[in-house]
Amino acid sequence: MTTAPQLDVTDRFRELLDRLSQKAIEDYYNPYQRFDWADHLDEEQWWMSPELLSVAGTDQQEQLDEATLKRLSKWESVNFYSLNVHGIRELLMEVISRIHTPGFEVPSDFFHHFIGEENEHMWFFSEFCLRYGKKIYRPPVVALTSGPTYEPEVENFLVFAKVLFFEEMVDHYNMAMGQDERLCRTIRQVNAIHHQDESRHIAFGRELVGHLYTLMCERVGEDRLREVEAYLKRYIVYSVNSFYNPEVYRDAGIADPLALRAAVLADPGRRVAERRVIRKPMAFFRKIGLFADDTLPLG
Ligand SMILES: [Fe+2]
Ligand SMILES: [Fe+2]
Repeated sequence: MTTAPQLDVTDRFRELLDRLSQKAIEDYYNPYQRFDWADHLDEEQWWMSPELLSVAGTDQQEQLDEATLKRLSKWESVNFYSLNVHGIRELLMEVISRIHTPGFEVPSDFFHHFIGEENEHMWFFSEFCLRYGKKIYRPPVVALTSGPTYEPEVENFLVFAKVLFFEEMVDHYNMAMGQDERLCRTIRQVNAIHHQDESRHIAFGRELVGHLYTLMCERVGEDRLREVEAYLKRYIVYSVNSFYNPEVYRDAGIADPLALRAAVLADPGRRVAERRVIRKPMAFFRKIGLFADDTLPLG
């Protein structure tokens, strides 16, 4: 008889879960009443911090005038919230398929907060896109959930490692935009509130992924671990590249969107900017021992 892999639950993990669940209850808000949705957002303003645009730090940025960059900031912000909508839908499917199943007894109570909050995040991000952009961009071609099939311990690790990476990547943007005075109140509010909830999810995710890593190492050998490392690194590069969306460039009025995408992707200035975005999760995957080094494959 096979038994479900058991989380190596420490008192520390239980205490963290109790504390985060308590905090989730105390911080709970009604998202449908919480936001000050402006009727429309000023097209002359920045919708995203200029340093976070996908052209930031490149030669191409110099060639675009301020009006174009501001238009780009509008559509890049709609793209950012669209990526959130799609990422959340996929992570919810994974968490829902695990809650109250053998092996996940301990974190299941916190999963209720996580699932509830993510549903609400998906709502306010989609609301932003539809209200101010009149659309949600299409989901990226490679889904969070797609990938090769591995042992259950590897699958569990990968699902939560990808969720954690996604949340940390998004949080980099949320933290900056939540306090950027150049952005309007609505945009600051959406980012600041998401950051507040995500700080709990990230604290939880780091602990859970650490436990799942131990469990995976007990089950599989070195070859498999190197495969998982390579797979997760490809996923990271893919996720970072989803910010270079030719549809966004087209909506911003750029004449040759594919040429801009190719030029920006090839610009070494972007590697520096991308490293800032992924610094924390990269350091985490090195710390737990999965990543042997900091290298990433080419996109
Ligand atoms: Fe979220
Ligand atoms: Fe989250």
